[in-house]
Amino acid sequence: MRKNIVAGNWKMNKTLPEGIALAKEVNEAVATIDLACEVILGTPFIHLSSVALVVDSNKVSISAQNCADKASGAYTGEVSAAMVASTGAKYVILGHSERRAYYGETDAILNEKVKLALENNLIPIFCIGEVLEEREADKHFDVVKSQLENGLFSLSAEDFGKLVLAYEPVWAIGTGKTASSEQAQEMHAFIRKTIADKYGKEVADNTSILYGGSCNPSNAKELFANPDVDGGLIGGASLKAQDFLGIITSF
Ligand code: 13P
Repeated sequence: MRKNIVAGNWKMNKTLPEGIALAKEVNEAVATIDLACEVILGTPFIHLSSVALVVDSNKVSISAQNCADKASGAYTGEVSAAMVASTGAKYVILGHSERRAYYGETDAILNEKVKLALENNLIPIFCIGEVLEEREADKHFDVVKSQLENGLFSLSAEDFGKLVLAYEPVWAIGTGKTASSEQAQEMHAFIRKTIADKYGKEVADNTSILYGGSCNPSNAKELFANPDVDGGLIGGASLKAQDFLGIITSF
């Protein structure tokens, strides 16, 4: 069955010493808790191997926030999926709306990244979600469906079954404006049905679908109580151990 997951996405925050200190703080806190979810720290590339050394991998997993769409070679400044995997990272966030919007990552590029991640035994946390104008025009279901179809649906059922999805309505990211519990459940149920139509009910039921966008210790419990919300992808509130812990213990 699908897992409950709380994943932090630190984005471009924390120097290396600050990141190590935060990881240690989270690690010490979760050591004393009977966890009801998998905990993931999504750190900048340069933090990955150091953070992997200071956390208990039985309780805390590490994720990159991106990887290259090429396997290796003359791509100055890029970091490959194989390099990410060699740090001890288990996950890689792909298709975040900030990557799509600011770095021109198309569905086709993301599909290449997903395939390379899987070839290197990394689990993609694949992000999908609409912008405000699309929701206001009542196009949010179409947008999310097309992101799934064009980014992921060329995968085999076996490969698709390895993924984690994150629904992140762009209008809720970093804005303090969370999707309501009803809006989150409605979209998560739609995503699960779209997966079921393509890959069958078993694959759909086994896929963890996280919610992301201004999730915090005050709203996490209500969001996570929904039958199709399997946890959260957390930005701002993952940068303070106490806030992140508050979300982790919402399960
Ligand atoms: P915030 O939690 O800061 O809104 O960010 C969400 C997000 O983009 C996680 O990937």
